Amino acid sequence: FIKRRRSWSRYPPGPPSLPFLGNMLQIDFYNPHLSFNQLNKKFGNVFSLQYFWSNMVVVNGYKAVKDALVQKAEDFADRPYFPKYAHLGYNKRSQGLIISRYGPAWRQQRRFALCTLKNFGMGKKSLENQISQEAGYLCSAFSSKEGHPFDPLFLVKKAVSNVIYSLTFGERFDYDDEKFQRLVEIFQQSMKEESGFLPQLLNEVPFLLRIPRVPQKVFQYQRASMSLIDAILKKHKETWDSTHIRDFTDAFLQEMEKVGNQQDLFECIVLCLVNTLVKEQSLLVPFIYKEIDKVIGRDRSPNMLDQANMPYANAVIHEIQCYGDIVPTGLPHMTYRDTELQGFFIPKDTVIITNLSSVLKDETFWEKPHQFYPKHFLDADGQFVKREAFLPFSAGRRICLGEQLARMELFLFFTSLLQCFTFQVPEDQPSPQEDGCFAIIHFPYPYQIQAILR
Ligand code: HEM
Repeated sequence: FIKRRRSWSRYPPGPPSLPFLGNMLQIDFYNPHLSFNQLNKKFGNVFSLQYFWSNMVVVNGYKAVKDALVQKAEDFADRPYFPKYAHLGYNKRSQGLIISRYGPAWRQQRRFALCTLKNFGMGKKSLENQISQEAGYLCSAFSSKEGHPFDPLFLVKKAVSNVIYSLTFGERFDYDDEKFQRLVEIFQQSMKEESGFLPQLLNEVPFLLRIPRVPQKVFQYQRASMSLIDAILKKHKETWDSTHIRDFTDAFLQEMEKVGNQQDLFECIVLCLVNTLVKEQSLLVPFIYKEIDKVIGRDRSPNMLDQANMPYANAVIHEIQCYGDIVPTGLPHMTYRDTELQGFFIPKDTVIITNLSSVLKDETFWEKPHQFYPKHFLDADGQFVKREAFLPFSAGRRICLGEQLARMELFLFFTSLLQCFTFQVPEDQPSPQEDGCFAIIHFPYPYQIQAILR
């Protein structure tokens, strides 16, 4: 008991908290990373918060985040339990992959997902060809706008969705297919249901979810997306043939025969789709055009071998991810055992927030952390350099499983679009806003551009 009291005296500092609410009123749930950045300045790189009655520690800056996720990988590999997802069918024994507690079930799901994604082409030419083809469809959709102003977001989202959709369900959609439009819209809305105060409250006080119609109202799109996935699974089951595995779903159905019913993996993967391509700074950098014309030319599609010869485009794509801050607060972790971080004691079962935004904009590491500055990734000879604080996909045991796929998509979509178009903001429209809205992922606010054929 005395030893434990002594350890708790080294618990990370934090702001005073209110009874029951803890520090909830000090966090802006529509921009949590900004609240964390302010508290970081006051309390240091490792500080604590009271999240209703849960203990939470926020880890900031490259060094502390790396210490937690890499040096003490297993101590920080757990995830908290999310009662708010129980109404969707997630429970303590069936949690899929992303929100799964650290342990044998997570390990099995992760191994299966990685292996199946690889079998279906992740990291291989076959997937590269599929992404290239999708980039071609996206360019055609842009060019059908004939230089008129449009919001690019929905089209980019459809292209990115199609890649993961065909990997998972074995088919792609035409961009104007009504079912597809609805699907993309539902996934987008279901992510928005994650932001704000109410979802946090329901997670911490789960009996509120028992009030009739509350989950239906607060999580209506998450429920709709689950129903859609159920319908797709049902269709797949009807035509499933164990001797002919067509896609990720078929492989998963086969696996389910072995491991039991855990259908939610698809949902998690589909939810992790991210659109980072159309950020105005990148598209208006003329230097890339020269590189594209020199290395790829106009007569063939870009491929992944080009990346090695395109340091500038590569640097810009990396810088977009720093500047755009796509998953600013990462996903919540939880300590798997009592542990120490930067001299502080953190007990088992403490919720851990890795403030990835503070890593990608770490003032002690990056030369110009708050500017769009592709030279962060270029050496004096203009060659591409990797930077260790580039952690948009996080690090350690729970590092993003789709990193390779996402990197391939970013490069091929980006270069294909710039090979075909120059982009400009329509005269009567404001420039796209620098900040965005937060719903686990940082989305840009809607804006209009013109895509002019080169
Ligand atoms: C987890 C970022 C695309 C699948 C994560 C995490 C981040 C992230 C920050 C949390 C890691 C942690 O808990 O520490 C991104 C970014 C992407 C991207 C920035 C695109 C630019 C994808 C794609 C897939 C995917 C395309 C699908 C193949 C996953 C999965 C996890 C995950 C399954 C959970 C891993 C686990 O808990 O073991 N991602 N992601 N991600 N991502 Fe992504």
